[in-house]
Amino acid sequence: MKKILLTFSTMLICMSALCADLNSIIPQPEKVTAAKGSFHAAGVPIKCDDKMDSRSLEAVKSFAAHLGMISGKTCSFSAPIGLRQAVESYGANGMVFIKDESLKNEAYMIDITSKRVLIKAKDFNGFLYAIQTLKQLLPAAIYGKTVCPSEKWVLPCCRIEDAPRFGYRGLMLDCCRHFFSVDFVKKYLDMMAMYKFNRFHWHLTEDQGWRIEVKKYPLLTQIGSYRNGTQIKFDENSSDHVRYGGYYTQEEIKDVVAYAWKLGITVVPEIDLPGHMVAALASYPWLGCTGGPYQVRETWGVADEVLCVGQERTMKFLEDVLDEVSDLFPGEYFHIGGDECPKNEWKKCPHCQAKIAELGFKDTDKFCKEDFLQSYVTARIQAFLATKGKKIIGWDEILEGDLAEGATVMSWRGTKGGIEASARGFDVIMSPTTYCYFDYVQGDHDKEPIGPNYVKPLTLEKVYSFEPFDGVNEDAQKHIIGVQANEWTEYIAEPWHAEYMVLPRALAIAEIQWCAPGNKNWDRFIKAVETHEFPVLDKAGYTYRKLDK
Ligand code: ACM
Ligand code: ZN
Repeated sequence: MKKILLTFSTMLICMSALCADLNSIIPQPEKVTAAKGSFHAAGVPIKCDDKMDSRSLEAVKSFAAHLGMISGKTCSFSAPIGLRQAVESYGANGMVFIKDESLKNEAYMIDITSKRVLIKAKDFNGFLYAIQTLKQLLPAAIYGKTVCPSEKWVLPCCRIEDAPRFGYRGLMLDCCRHFFSVDFVKKYLDMMAMYKFNRFHWHLTEDQGWRIEVKKYPLLTQIGSYRNGTQIKFDENSSDHVRYGGYYTQEEIKDVVAYAWKLGITVVPEIDLPGHMVAALASYPWLGCTGGPYQVRETWGVADEVLCVGQERTMKFLEDVLDEVSDLFPGEYFHIGGDECPKNEWKKCPHCQAKIAELGFKDTDKFCKEDFLQSYVTARIQAFLATKGKKIIGWDEILEGDLAEGATVMSWRGTKGGIEASARGFDVIMSPTTYCYFDYVQGDHDKEPIGPNYVKPLTLEKVYSFEPFDGVNEDAQKHIIGVQANEWTEYIAEPWHAEYMVLPRALAIAEIQWCAPGNKNWDRFIKAVETHEFPVLDKAGYTYRKLDK
């Protein structure tokens, strides 16, 4: 009887593998049409159109090698000349990837019959996303490293036409409040690629630690990367008094950027200025209004000590740093922070006040003259980065005072800043605390690992309910270029915890970034998370928060 039961449950497992559920793809594709039958994927030839670029060919080749290894049946890979014409004339067999210029950026099409799988895309990201979707339709074992010939390596017959809603699909990791190794950052990027994110916002400088090597200013890492302790509870006096720190060398940065590039992810570095700069002030006290002394902060919150931007030598420092740093990141965007810059020191500083007088700034009904001093810094840095071919992104405080054309606003204090910025013609990335702050706990505070105590839990369901166009004028909606979730790490010191905080909430953000509103469905999503994504994340070795029952 026991044996019969065992056989029956094995059958059930195989059946579920056999009938991969099209609803289980996250983010859910734009259009899915199911058909009868299935395609046996183990050991099939995998062919590419010779018009595909080398990065796409490499991606398909490594998918072929991985499928062959895991299924125990080698999948041959080739990129024969004239494949496209042959497919058009005689049809395809095996798995065939074709470049199709008529598709949109990042879009793809998959057509599966019992004889063949035809995949079309225009660009590298399109091919990558087609591969990710195919992986989601295969047994979860595809995300592991061990050979599983006993799994049913089949794909359901169907047609999928897919393209993202937003072009900027970001996830941020704060590597300053706590430092994360290159290996961990790569694992984070692997997870992002699984869910079709395309921007990794890397928060690299903070009051509590400077994390990127700058050759011209070696003290930034010799001094600024280390603090004498860490606030471990909500109380500012709760430092553990243990020296803590670390930084990425420029070689490591290049390695991460190259790794991300192969996953279709552009790295957006953030050098947060002119506030959140205490680590730099501790390294070079002449950068501050008072001259210090300063210490790399051990506590969280907002520091009054900021850069003395009234002095030209501070601006020169910023340009030198950005000159070096921007060369390491080939993407078009550079994040310059701009958030939480108290103006108390500028109000008292003779250099900053002289600069304000020189530039003729005056208080207005809405802003003080020091707000305009920050706008002046933003505009100068924007112009400098433009000479390096970069566009700036800033937190929504950059709207205060003036803002020059071409800046992109990241709306974090709710969506208000994003609504205003898009109405004024600026591009916007929506990233409001209310839906997108993954440092906030996911359930009752007393049942979760420690997280900011001043906010209510941000549940998976709440994240999923975000609609980035809410409150945005129809004319301005074209300026909402994307959505991003942020993982601040004041209370997140360990890799398992960093994963736990983003998973599964990153999957909800992935659907907000990718799916048209009509294609989102909480019941379908939550079932897919539980029945499909959790086994996938187990296989891939990620820690995640289980669902509330
Ligand atoms: C922020 O959370 N200070 C952008
Ligand atoms: Zn000053």
